[in-house]
Amino acid sequence: MTEPSQFQAPVGTHDVLAPASSQWEGLVATFADWAHRYGFSLVITPVFEDAGVFNRGFGETSDVARKEMYVFEDRGQRTYALRPEGTAPVVRAFIQHQPTTPFKAWYFTPAFRYERPQAGRYRQHHQVGVEALGTDDPALDVEVITLAQRFFEALGLKRFRLLINSMGHAECRGAYVELLRAHLEGNAGELCDEHQKTWRENPLRVLDCKNPACVAVTARGPMLIDHLCDDCRAHFETVRAGLSRLGVASELSPRLVRGFDYYTRTTFEFVADALDGAQNAIGGGGRYDGLVEQLGGKPTGGIGFGSGVERLLLTLEAEGAPSLLSRSLEVFVVDTTGENAAGPLLDRLRQAGVASDRAYDQRSMKAQMKVADKSGARLALLIGPQELSGGEVTIRDLRSADHEQHQRRVLDQDVVSTVLQLLQAK
Ligand code: HAM
Repeated sequence: MTEPSQFQAPVGTHDVLAPASSQWEGLVATFADWAHRYGFSLVITPVFEDAGVFNRGFGETSDVARKEMYVFEDRGQRTYALRPEGTAPVVRAFIQHQPTTPFKAWYFTPAFRYERPQAGRYRQHHQVGVEALGTDDPALDVEVITLAQRFFEALGLKRFRLLINSMGHAECRGAYVELLRAHLEGNAGELCDEHQKTWRENPLRVLDCKNPACVAVTARGPMLIDHLCDDCRAHFETVRAGLSRLGVASELSPRLVRGFDYYTRTTFEFVADALDGAQNAIGGGGRYDGLVEQLGGKPTGGIGFGSGVERLLLTLEAEGAPSLLSRSLEVFVVDTTGENAAGPLLDRLRQAGVASDRAYDQRSMKAQMKVADKSGARLALLIGPQELSGGEVTIRDLRSADHEQHQRRVLDQDVVSTVLQLLQAK
């Protein structure tokens, strides 16, 4: 036994090892496939950015900007932040490189937020997501939301719902915020402790509060959806009609206010019924038609979503969905020649596309067979002194009850083709 390491993964972070990691591989491959079908290309941006990229876009009252960012000064006294999300970096890159529009990008990224860790909430989580920039056409909203829906379906998720709302654009939202502020002013004494102090700074946050006191006060108050301007209302209606035309059910959720100030018009969240209510969002997003300008670019429409990989995997497990990917070894080579005959044989197998492995350190036949049995491989290839002198290899089926009954010797030159045939025959 080795001593346990004194180092552990930091609080709120996780190591992902096999076999769990094959679920991750399957999930990301599924997302890449669906993003590609919708015309999105992979984008990779640095994991840290000038802190201003996030501070400017999120708004001063967003929890993420206020208290959750990992901000640090580097040795050159620049103030950077580890990315807490994927949207602002893509927008920064869009402004910097000025690609042709519409610019449709997908990503798989870690995101860092100093939150109180609990089931489904971590300090480093991972998102798959998309951002589409260059148009405010509601057809794009429908596409982005439908992509999320189809991706969740492809994963095998069954019990999830799409909640949708409109945040309006700067003007109609501004007018609504004044109405809400007036309502809260008259009822401030009834709000939760935190919002009694902070409702004035950003009254919209009170709508997002789960505390029953805040829910009761806001339920009696005005809702943004009833105060949209004609253009924003028409946009929202077109999006909802477009979704229902594709058979994507959406629930109007007038209290849905997301955690970043950059949202305009369409906002949405997917929630999983199998997860605990507090952390049941498996994805969220919306339009951010002012963000490019806020970060120094020309006025440009944009919309996207991000979806938490850990939460998706928790949901799949809770729903008992089938595995996304089974990544098992196909062949295990047992070499007792003492001459590393396994090396060249493995090289040929691997070049032929066969997932194959071996034991090391010249262990006994018995010890190597034990590892082969544990490895999950379907076939063992045995090469001992006898096989070596005859120019042959023994192929053994490890999945049959009586291994030795199910073995045969083949000429070394035929071994790769025989293995391929046996693996295909499954
Ligand atoms: P968000 O709602 O903050 O939006 O995060 C997106 C998803 O990431 C959530 O629905 C959830 O599944 C997952 N998530 C967020 N925080 C955590 C956490 N601490 N632990 C585990 N999972 C978490 C955004 O980040 C926006 N950038 C989405 C977007 C893209 N909007 C437009 N484009």
